[in-house]
This record gives sequence, C-alpha cells and structure tokens, in this order.
Amino acid sequence: MLKLAAIILAAGQGTRMKSATPKMLHLLAGRPLIYYSVRAALDAGATDVVVVVGRGANDVESYLGATFGKTVRTASQAEQRGTGHAALMAMPALGEVENTLVLYGDTPLLEVADLKALATALEGRPDAPLALMTCVLEDPTGYGRVLRDEKGRVLCIREHRDLRNEKERAITEVNPGVYAARLPFLREALAKLTPNNAQNELYLTDVVEAAGRKGGAVAVPAQPTTLTGVNDRAQLAAAEAVMHRRIAERLARSGVTVRGEPRIDESVEVAPDATIHAGVELRGRTVIKSGVTVDVGCVLTDAIIDTGATVLPYCVITSSRVGPRARIGPFAHLRPESDIGEEAHVGNFVETKKTVMHARSKANHLAYLGDGEIGEASNVGAGTIFCNYDGFNKHKTTLGRGVFIGSDSQLVAPVTIGDGAYVATGATVTQDVPPDALAIGRARQENKPGYAAKLRIKFGKKATTTK
Ligand code: UD1
Ligand code: CA
Repeated sequence: MLKLAAIILAAGQGTRMKSATPKMLHLLAGRPLIYYSVRAALDAGATDVVVVVGRGANDVESYLGATFGKTVRTASQAEQRGTGHAALMAMPALGEVENTLVLYGDTPLLEVADLKALATALEGRPDAPLALMTCVLEDPTGYGRVLRDEKGRVLCIREHRDLRNEKERAITEVNPGVYAARLPFLREALAKLTPNNAQNELYLTDVVEAAGRKGGAVAVPAQPTTLTGVNDRAQLAAAEAVMHRRIAERLARSGVTVRGEPRIDESVEVAPDATIHAGVELRGRTVIKSGVTVDVGCVLTDAIIDTGATVLPYCVITSSRVGPRARIGPFAHLRPESDIGEEAHVGNFVETKKTVMHARSKANHLAYLGDGEIGEASNVGAGTIFCNYDGFNKHKTTLGRGVFIGSDSQLVAPVTIGDGAYVATGATVTQDVPPDALAIGRARQENKPGYAAKLRIKFGKKATTTK
C-alpha cells in the first residue's frame, strides 16, 4: 500500500449546534466528536494526519495533543471560508505522500473498512485522481447531491442550497464527504477553487468536478448509517444512539451478555462473561471484569469492578474500585476513592467516600461512611454515621478487624475502634475503643411501672384512640 495521509476538516463554526462549546468537542458516547474521524483515519492506515482547526482551536488542539500525541498535527484556518478553503490550509502541513484521505470532523460513524475500501479503489484506478464515497438516502435534505452523466459517470457535487431544478432535487444519491485523492491533483484543484455558490464559500466538493475532467472521479457506494453528518443536536443524539448500539453489539459478540439497551462509552472496557442490564450507563475509564453483573439502572463513571462482583440495581459508583465477588446495592452510592474489598457487602442506602472496606466487611443498610477504613470481616450496623466533618476539617474513622458497630451509632472522627471491639447500639463514640472492648455511649433506660396507664387517665380516652 502507498503511504497515506489524512486531512480532517474541523474548523467550522458549527452554528447549527447553537452552543458555546465548539461542535468538535461535543461528546458522543463519552468522546469528543473529533475523536472518531481521527481514530478512523489512523486505523485505516494514515501515517500523517492533519486536522484543520478554527472555532475553539486552542481547546481542540489541546484535546488532540493529549489524546493522540504527535501522530496528529493541526493546521489553522483563521477565517471559515468554506470546506475547500479549509483543505487548502492543510496543504503546507502535509509531507510528501502520494495519496490523502479528506474527511470531515463531524462524521463520527465512519467505518475503518469503508476508508480502506476507498483508498484501495483509488489505487486500483491509476488514471483517476480522486475517489469519493456515495450513499443513497431516503431523505437527502441538507446533503450535497451526486450528479452523474448519462453514462453514470460522476459529474459533480451540487450542494443542497445550490440545486437548480426539480430533477436535481429528486436525486437521492448524496455526498457523505469522504474522499481519497492524489496529492498533486488535490493541491492544484484546491488552488483553483472559486466561491461560485449560494454561500460564497470555497467548496471542497468542487474538486470532484475537476477530477471528472482529469480522468474521472471514482464513486464507492457505502452504507448510509455509517456516514451521517452531525450538524445539530438532533443529529448528535441520533448518531450517539447508533454508536451505543454498535458498542453494545461489539461487546455482545465478544462474549458479554447485554440485556436491553445500556449506554456504554467508547472508552469503557467490558470483559467476556460480564452481564450488563438495561438502563445502565458505563462512562469514562470504567473497567468491568469477567463474571461481573451490573444490574438495571446503574451509573458507573471511572469505576473498576473486579471479577465476579455484583452491582445490584440503581447504584451510582464514581472513581472507585469494587473488589472480586463483592456485592453492592441496590441503591448504594460509592463516591470517589472508595475501595471495596473482596467479598465485601455494601447494601441499600449506604454512601461511601474515600473509604476502604477490607475483605468480607459489611455495611448492609442505611449508612454514611466517609473518610474511613473498615478492617477485614467487620460489620457496620444500620444507621451508622462516620461523622467525618467538624465544620472545618475532614477526619478519619478507623475500624480494625472483626469489629461490630451496633445500629444507629455515630463515630465522631478522628476515632479508632480496635480489632474485635464491639460498639453497642445507639452509641456516640468520641474516644478510641481498645481492641476487644465494649463501648456503650447512650442514656441509661429507666422503666416506670404503671406510668402509661396513669397518663391515659390524666388525658382522658382520646389520647389512646386514633379517632
Ligand atoms: C458538507 C458537504 C456536503 C456533504 C456534507 C456531508 C461541502 C461544501 N459540502 O456539507 O456536500 O453532503 O458535508 O456531511 O463540503 N469546515 C471547516 N472550515 C470551513 C467550513 C467547514 O473546517 O470553513 C469543516 C466543519 O468543521 C465540518 C466540515 O468541514 O466538520 C463540514 O462542514 P459543514 O458546514 O458541516 O458542511 P455541510 O453543510 O455538512
Ligand atoms: Ca456537516
């Protein structure tokens, strides 16, 4: 294969997004829009990738640098004078390559196989200076149309706004905006563009007509779903839905059980033999290991769920780790830096934050466990609060191994409960508890015999009836 470059146009204003955020940085399945065309170009074998930036250039550039490093370079288009002008801006940045792909940054569903087919089609036609993808859409509104002559040869692309008559408007074969061109031809054709159209811009699409005059433009048909352009947020939502289905299907084929329609970011890893239920969102750098079940409605962001763990319905887990065979939820909230050990249990309405729970420890019901460490096989009763904040600073609560905390206790940090110690129900613990000790911290109960009956007489019958 010949050495291949790629130019990706990403400088446009993105006006139709109606957004303060540059279009290229709007997220689709967890990644900025621009990620996808760049990834596809690299995966198709492009060794030299130049992204043309304009609107939000600094932010787009720093994202690309952080994500792709030096493999991707940028060229600046200070004034947005059209897609042809944008491509022209990339020319000085391109090294000596024979062929280049030209893509738009707003077509996130591009498939690598399509790009490879396009490059191969160009190689197979030494006489032709350009190949372009085409597809047939039921509703071609907004897309440039492919005009052909009576022999079926591609003549030119006519933009939607520049269509001249009903016959042209009826054409359903459109230009998805994916091209492969010989570089010397492209340099020359771009230099000759004129703004002869409704928008008074330099149209990249006009190089197709130039190619027609120089040996022909090769048309390569492709599936319409993969070529959707994202111009507004309705198209963004539609493209994201396709991407989510694609990710779910890829995982299913790799051995993940996928029930219903989870929304899984492109960046997430899920191992074979995991089960992901409907309504689950897996975001960011989340990693799901083998044998894990993530049940209905959970939202996991940058979470690592280790082998065989179970996350029951409606849990929220953020920047935390869940150990092998642990059980979380339903309705648990693991906030950042929670680290739940092997076979530990975190039950309903339990919230953790920066808390380490060691192996086989349990907090099964209704608790706030912030800034804590809970030793192996310890048991935290219902309604326990780690009082970690005194209004000024956060403090740590440390439980040793085999500790038992009775229900409805408050542990006022900083405080340490020694190995094997026992805290009686309803205690307010303000001092350290030595190993194996029993701590009781509550008012002593007093029973007054017959007193309830006396009260009934004093307040009359009404006090005891519900009428
Ligand atoms: C373009 C095509 C149209 C095709 C459609 C496919 C042209 C003239 N039209 O129209 O034939 O059917 O894509 O989705 O090419 N950009 C710049 N600088 C500019 C203008 C645009 O870098 O001055 C970038 C944009 O950031 C965007 C891409 O080029 O990523 C396409 O521009 P856009 O305005 O979205 O073109 P469409 O109207 O969609
Ligand atoms: Ca577009």
